[in-house]
Amino acid sequence: MTGNVEMNFDGKTIGFPTIVGSEGEVGVNITALRNQTGCITLDPGYGNTGSCESAITFIDGEEGILRYRGYDIAELAAKSTFIETSYLLIYGNLPSRAQLVDFSNLLTENQMLHEDMRHLFDGFPPTAHPMAILSAMINAASSYHPNIINKREERFPWHAARLISQVRTIAAYSYRKARGLPTIYPKTTLKYTANFLHMMFSHPGEDIELKPEIVRALDLIFLLHADHEQNCSTSTVRMVASSRANLFASASAGVCALWGPLHGGANQAVLEMLQEIHHEGDDGSKFLAQVKDKTGNRRLMGFGHRVYKNFDPRAVIIKEQCDKVLAQLHKSDPLLDIAKKLEEIALHDDYFVSRKLYPNVDFYSGIIMRAIGIPLDMFTVMFAIGRMPGWIANFKEVMEDPESRIARPRQIYTGPTLRSYKTLDQRG
Ligand code: CMC
Repeated sequence: MTGNVEMNFDGKTIGFPTIVGSEGEVGVNITALRNQTGCITLDPGYGNTGSCESAITFIDGEEGILRYRGYDIAELAAKSTFIETSYLLIYGNLPSRAQLVDFSNLLTENQMLHEDMRHLFDGFPPTAHPMAILSAMINAASSYHPNIINKREERFPWHAARLISQVRTIAAYSYRKARGLPTIYPKTTLKYTANFLHMMFSHPGEDIELKPEIVRALDLIFLLHADHEQNCSTSTVRMVASSRANLFASASAGVCALWGPLHGGANQAVLEMLQEIHHEGDDGSKFLAQVKDKTGNRRLMGFGHRVYKNFDPRAVIIKEQCDKVLAQLHKSDPLLDIAKKLEEIALHDDYFVSRKLYPNVDFYSGIIMRAIGIPLDMFTVMFAIGRMPGWIANFKEVMEDPESRIARPRQIYTGPTLRSYKTLDQRG
């Protein structure tokens, strides 16, 4: 459905076509704006800017709705697996039994890194953050597959499977390397998430016991992170892809964007915040007072979202899972009590209520990861593993769009106007 919006510029009325999405969201197409008026739009942070049309993920931030390809996130969380959901995101529909077998086989075939890549891990100091290693290694992996550059469309299913499968192998290797532990190779007999836990925690000659509840909890974390429309890292992936860079280079850039504490790095920052509050013996109220008077620019990490002005549906599912996983593992965690207390205070406090700040996906996810033994500096890596199918689906959309142009925003220049060069002598 299309329409038209008229705007007045210097007494001249100009019409811009509107486009209405399948869920009713209206966009004004301003591609003719500069030609017709000489003006550009200015929207720092892109809060009002649609960068693309996309058929992958729908979010209604006011209602707290998240759907992948039309399926509600809660239904997928209850009934699907990360790998089924990955297929759904990339190829548009849930796989048939045969498609799922083919996809799983392709993942298994591609799970090993080129053996030479193992030496690259030796170049990182033990203090290297795993997100730095992950981004570098994803990019490096592209150099072992030359046809990723010149046959990117034709070979896409292989490269997509390779990336989903290998990101998990790279993540596990980086963890083992940082701790001086021997590398554990993936097994062909294990499914995706179980295989990851095997590579992380088994020892040569002694396989870890893979508890189904732990495998399921991590698989769910991956699934809940699998896509989230045009967030910072996905927009980065699309932007890099728009220059016709390859899939691995685009995903590597996505990892870098994800790392920041305002985005995926928030899951590590939340746990560090909870640990600090616990260490200081605060029940959360002292910390929240600091957040509210904005001393030291503190934020309640894991709270707030650009799009959600209501509960983040992923946070609701993860919070429920926290209690379930801790009970299944017969564990308790004082940090969960602090997190619940912080949430309770914040949801009744005018500062948070008036700004519509609710817990987001990162608020409770760290508690589950901690319970299942994932170390703190690997939290954001778990987010990256989960987000990989979403990045790949978005890359595919860019690649297949016949009207795709290189992403190249403009700016309003505010620097000096023309000045003449002074020699060093003239400058004194
Ligand atoms: N704690 C305290 N105040 C906050 C918070 C918070 N977590 N989030 C936003 N605010 C305040 C902010 O100070 C501002 O107040 P004022 O109007 O008085 O200046 C107001 O709320 C609007 O904030 P904003 O920074 O303009 O909002 P944004 O849409 O640009 O930022 C955000 C969104 C997620 C970066 C932000 O809410 C935040 O920093 N949250 C904490 C970090 C976090 O949890 N990030 C994970 C996001 S979800 C997963 C993901 O995308 O990776």
